[in-house]
Amino acid sequence: MIPIKLEVNGRPIEVRVEPRQHLADFLREEMLLTATHLGCEHGVCGACTVLIDGAPARSCIAFPAMLDGARITTVEGLADDAVAAELREAFMDEHGLQCGFCTPGMLVMARDIVLRRPQADEDVIRHELAGNLCRCTGYVGIIRAIRKVAAGRADAVVTRGTVLEPPAYASPLALPVSPARVAVEAPLAPSPAAAMAGAGEGEAEAEPLRNPVELSESFEVPAPRAEVWALFQSPEQVIACLPGARLTAPSDGRTLKAEMVVKLGPMQAAFGGAGRITPDAANWSGTIDGRGVDARSATQVRARLGYRLAEIEADAATRVSVDVAYVLQGPLAQMSRGAIARDVAARLTQAFAANLAATVKGETPAAQNASLDAGALAWSVIKGWLARLFGRG
Ligand code: FES
Ligand code: FES
Repeated sequence: MIPIKLEVNGRPIEVRVEPRQHLADFLREEMLLTATHLGCEHGVCGACTVLIDGAPARSCIAFPAMLDGARITTVEGLADDAVAAELREAFMDEHGLQCGFCTPGMLVMARDIVLRRPQADEDVIRHELAGNLCRCTGYVGIIRAIRKVAAGRADAVVTRGTVLEPPAYASPLALPVSPARVAVEAPLAPSPAAAMAGAGEGEAEAEPLRNPVELSESFEVPAPRAEVWALFQSPEQVIACLPGARLTAPSDGRTLKAEMVVKLGPMQAAFGGAGRITPDAANWSGTIDGRGVDARSATQVRARLGYRLAEIEADAATRVSVDVAYVLQGPLAQMSRGAIARDVAARLTQAFAANLAATVKGETPAAQNASLDAGALAWSVIKGWLARLFGRG
């Protein structure tokens, strides 16, 4: 049993949990919050959708043991929320439910759509709601209800409402953190349209990230530090080492515009955005702050990458230490939590390291023209787990 602290519907709790118990079972069986329903139990139907740290997430594939310090809001916790109240009424008026099994997940997701995309038309709502399945109503009434509330709020100031104001707590997914750790606390990200407009202006603002997922990796490159440093000062070469990434405009060395294509099973996201490069030559280190958006899903990403180079083996090789912090907002954020996301990012770092080593040797990195297949990476992670489980790792 693992001791954790959570805030559930505004109430701080301290409990011990089984590592294998998923969040939906925990909420239903330990907290008696049975409005969170379970359909598929493998992340497909959306019936179990709750808010984790204010963002919709599937509680059947989230584990309390990994959420120490997180803030969970179920549909019961939205009882006094003004937007949820409007949605409940609209669902009733527009015949947005029949048996009601999908409704708690629908309401949680609908609230997020209305707050995040108040201008959403029918196509956008259908796309945003694609991860929530209903077996009864045929969606027409559900879409109409969400449209009605969204239309009524089209001119409203975008706010996440009172239940989402974040208390101070440590990032539940934080890994051991280096001195380059990114500070937390920031206002809400801008609308997708604003983010895209900003992304097109060439320079990402270096705003602090709120509750980022943080990763630290280090690897060795068989080349002197000065050579690796020179490579890091070339955005073209660095981007070419990242699977699925490409520059979308020539870089002046201090700013960059790039796109990164990520595949997750049948889904494909193309994050386009801008970054600012800040080298610190005196310390052989630097940072890249970036922001992007996948126009199709309106998922936004903000990230900071910090790197440091150290001489090893009498400068025959270089140790590269990388700290990454990122925040995803939007539909794809539901897929980004947990150990799989961290392991996928670790594999991405490994691919980046291999490509960097190839580049310093004058070889063509394998990443060029290949998109990042997070599904394949995740599968290789799962195979690794299985191998370790059966003692063959
Ligand atoms: Fe279907 Fe969780 S129960 S996504
Ligand atoms: Fe019955 Fe959606 S109302 S599953």
